[in-house]
Amino acid sequence: MQLNNEDFQRLAKIIKTKYGLNLLDKKILVESRLTNYVLDCGFDDFTEYLETVYADRSGIEMTNIISRLTTNYTYFMRESEHFRHFTEKFLPEAERRMTDRELRIWSAGCSYGNEPYNFAMCLDNYFGVRHSLWDSKILATDISFNALRMAKRGVFAEAALKELPLDWRMKYFNKNPNGTFQVTDEIRNNVVFKYHNLMEEISFKKKFDLIVCRNVMIYFDEQTKRDLINRFYEATEEGGYLYIGHAESAPKGIGYKMIQPAVFRKPAKGDE
Ligand SMILES: C[S@@+](CC[C@H](N)C(=O)[O-])C[C@H]1O[C@@H](n2cnc3c(N)ncnc32)[C@H](O)[C@@H]1O
Repeated sequence: MQLNNEDFQRLAKIIKTKYGLNLLDKKILVESRLTNYVLDCGFDDFTEYLETVYADRSGIEMTNIISRLTTNYTYFMRESEHFRHFTEKFLPEAERRMTDRELRIWSAGCSYGNEPYNFAMCLDNYFGVRHSLWDSKILATDISFNALRMAKRGVFAEAALKELPLDWRMKYFNKNPNGTFQVTDEIRNNVVFKYHNLMEEISFKKKFDLIVCRNVMIYFDEQTKRDLINRFYEATEEGGYLYIGHAESAPKGIGYKMIQPAVFRKPAKGDE
């Protein structure tokens, strides 16, 4: 089924403004990802379907489109340098600096949950029995309801666990009778999944000690990226960190200081 140019331009413009996703040269991808869905919904052409989408005040139908157009590719231990920085630099520093022992981490664009669960496992593995002395919470957000639903269940195929240390299978997963693995309740309870569109204001109550936003901004243009990084900066505690994807670049002139590739820090009072 073909999407005519007028319909495509209008849809691409709305999605760019509302979700930051740049689809302008992706007409074929949009057609291929939406055609079966539109037919299954009982429409014969895109024009008729899109009229229904725009008329839907609840916005639910638009989120169905977004779920189909976003790339949710993710895996455990992706960009392992971040997990190394987290356990070798971030957590030892947190132990020295954070006398209130309150740790807030945000995985922004968490997809199926591999990323926030991975940080929760690293955190637990690092602290061991001392974990109970800490009030640690990981917020994990995305715009794909489908990804969030799967993330909350925390069920993964055995093959998905291959990059994790072998003993973590026993420690942080329960094996289901069908051979899949579910993240333990303890780790799942450490992560709160929520819908949040990164194009919107950040109104979470507390600031974060670490914001992880990896492989999300690749779809955003420079201005959208700059605005988002400025919002992240406001939402970061002094001395807190931002991790971005290694294939992504941060715009010049932002408040964070680059510490190493893809790792940024918000200066704290008293820093030289
Ligand atoms: C490629 S995945 C990256 C997942 C994970 N961070 C990683 O690096 O493995 C990108 C995720 O960003 C989400 N995303 C895209 N645009 C977004 C937006 N405007 N607000 C929130 N999440 C968004 C997508 O739904 C998708 O799940």
